[in-house]
Amino acid sequence: TWTTGNIVEEQVAAIREQVGDKRAICGLSGGVDSAVAAALVQKAIGSQLTCVYVDHGLMRKGETEQVEKDFVAATGVQLKVVDAQERFLNALAGVSDPETKRKIIGREFIRVFEQAQAEIIAEGGADVAFLVQGTLYPDVVESGGGTGTANIKSHHNVGGLPDDIEFELVEPLRQLFKDEVRMVGQELGLPDEIVQRQPFPGPGLGIRIVGEVTKDRLDLLREADAIARHELSAAGLDREIWQCPVVLLADVRSVGVQGDGRTYGHPIVLRPVSSEDAMTADWTRMPYEVLAKISTRITNEVPEVNRVVLDCTSKPPGTIEWE
Ligand code: XMP
Repeated sequence: TWTTGNIVEEQVAAIREQVGDKRAICGLSGGVDSAVAAALVQKAIGSQLTCVYVDHGLMRKGETEQVEKDFVAATGVQLKVVDAQERFLNALAGVSDPETKRKIIGREFIRVFEQAQAEIIAEGGADVAFLVQGTLYPDVVESGGGTGTANIKSHHNVGGLPDDIEFELVEPLRQLFKDEVRMVGQELGLPDEIVQRQPFPGPGLGIRIVGEVTKDRLDLLREADAIARHELSAAGLDREIWQCPVVLLADVRSVGVQGDGRTYGHPIVLRPVSSEDAMTADWTRMPYEVLAKISTRITNEVPEVNRVVLDCTSKPPGTIEWE
């Protein structure tokens, strides 16, 4: 029967069998999926696993610290942090097309992993032959890996990978939906702050800036996102809302009046959605007062943003992320 305990046992056995006495590396994105995948593999093969956290500069505020402290404390995993902010910004310079951004981010991720692998080997580790990915069932389906489904987006942990990767993949969550992944995470003893986190895409804020990704734009979006997240949590909406992407329309400007005069700034989009599994979603009818608070704070506190708009589109026809 299909119980959480069984899934853990089954996957632990399968991982041991697949990896043998080789080593694996696992990229942590700060999200639930990679954290649970890593914890599962850690349980199976312990010190044969090294986690790599790529700080690509596309993370939300406080995310890097959460991985460095909370996750390591909960699992005891070996963690290598790579600062790759410049590398990703350089690779993304001048690029606005969503699929191109996704491909670039996926490619750079793998290149950074390859470097990390080389470093781990140079530091005396045995052969690193496996790459752990927190791919879920909906990712497989939506990237065209399922039966007869068109390719909707290149999720970077599936379709966006380059063809020439050197690793064999370990994907222990490939048959699971998000709620099952959370249960597995709980079963493995991960704290609520990690297990109950709302989903966040691997390409991070890079696909939440409509237009070119720059350091300044990332900083603006990080502030706006931190405000929205704070107010949603303060209003007790974390469980009701599946996730709330905050999107910067960097290529759009509108006229505003702020402080002493006219401004010509960018809109921020709030995309609160309710969903069971991210395959379909509805926009969350959240309280007006919470929207008002978020809007006031973002326009007051985030420079160059003079308008906050609500995305009231279900999925389909809209996807959850804008890119
Ligand atoms: P969409 O935008 O396709 O998103 O409706 C469905 C769910 O998947 C998340 N998402 C991603 N997760 N890598 C991920 O790990 C990705 O490249 C990626 N793209 C989208 C999205 O946040 C939503 O939960």
